[in-house]
Amino acid sequence: MLSDDARFETLAVHGGMDGLRDAGSHVPPIDFSTTNPLMGILSGGDSYENLATGHPLEPGASAVYQRLWQPGVARFEESLAALEGAEGAVAFSTGMAALSAVLLACVRRGTGHIVASRPLYGGTDHVLESGLLGTTVTWCDPDEIAAAIRPDTGLVLVETPANPTLELLDIADVVAQAGSVPVMVDNTFASPVLQQPIRHGATLVLHSATKFLGGHGDVMGGVVAGPESWLESLRQVRALTGGVLHPMAAYLLHRGLRTLAVRVRAQQETAALLAIRLGEHPAVVRVLYPGLPGNDPGALIGRQLAGPGSILALDLGTFAAARAFTENCVLITHAVSLGGVDSLVQHPASLTHRPVAEEARPGAGIVRLSIGLEHVEDLATDLLRALDALPADGIRPGMLTNPVASQ
Ligand SMILES: Cc1ncc(COP(=O)(O)O)c(C=O)c1O
Repeated sequence: MLSDDARFETLAVHGGMDGLRDAGSHVPPIDFSTTNPLMGILSGGDSYENLATGHPLEPGASAVYQRLWQPGVARFEESLAALEGAEGAVAFSTGMAALSAVLLACVRRGTGHIVASRPLYGGTDHVLESGLLGTTVTWCDPDEIAAAIRPDTGLVLVETPANPTLELLDIADVVAQAGSVPVMVDNTFASPVLQQPIRHGATLVLHSATKFLGGHGDVMGGVVAGPESWLESLRQVRALTGGVLHPMAAYLLHRGLRTLAVRVRAQQETAALLAIRLGEHPAVVRVLYPGLPGNDPGALIGRQLAGPGSILALDLGTFAAARAFTENCVLITHAVSLGGVDSLVQHPASLTHRPVAEEARPGAGIVRLSIGLEHVEDLATDLLRALDALPADGIRPGMLTNPVASQ
């Protein structure tokens, strides 16, 4: 049984496990049922109505249908909400499905105007810029948020640390500027181990659970944590549009939370060492990492963010150098995604941030590294060798220039 003052690591291990001991289980069972037996037409209908309008499952009621309620998903949500200090959470099939549900909920409330500060994950930028879900967006600098708010603004959306260039934002300042408009922080890069935005006044927290929460590159998911007033709308969007988390994915994400703290801290320790060593290499123009001097002007580490994390970006000056570097890495896999136990490298302007408007796209010389749990010396060897192999002028003869990331 968890005590009310259980600390983060204890919550992470034991959260969402209620009732298991009494049922004789040590870990949550995975219930793959797509449908659930009904106790009668009337009670089944009542439960359907209740769940399809976004209310939680009533004790003793039938869950009716997996798109409406799933016990393993509910366990994951409960655990994640506790780690974020939120009233509750709603999980989805992917981070983009989670974001889409928030945007649709804003549109439904008649407040489809979103104020957002770049940089954001490229997919987030894309869905906002496209207006696909009926929202409109005002992009602004972090200190212009108050001025960008309109009567129909439903949400202020920020990411800190930001994907891919690791800028930090002062959440309390964003919240103060937003006034009565809810602020949603994409907390994917920090994870609740390093940052809990609700404690700094944010209303909603978004995760691509595909990243640190799962942590092993083998499960997709998304989750939004926040107050019950929002959770009801989000559950309703999920029930109606169907972006549900699969029971197996919910199991893996819930299990991922149990080791989250140790993974995040160990990966961070390695990243911090590598950030210093990479910065000393002559081929590196700049290391973008919150833990390095000059990269945390608001002194947020220690105040808002418990540490700089395990994602860093290198500015290598040119597209050609960035391309050669990613292709020179051997131990580190050239692939999108982040936050897993194995290290990954990718070129945001060509990949994750390809849809972003040219003026806001990350520089052509920027590569993003997600540092995993490998030994720091093995990673250093791979990275330094990849840098040593760059041509001195940064351009390899015959190398194509990427039209998306030309420089
Ligand atoms: C910061 C951030 N938010 C949201 C997403 C979208 O999540 P998903 O890929 O799980 O849909 C990503 C994916 O890379 C991300 O990095």
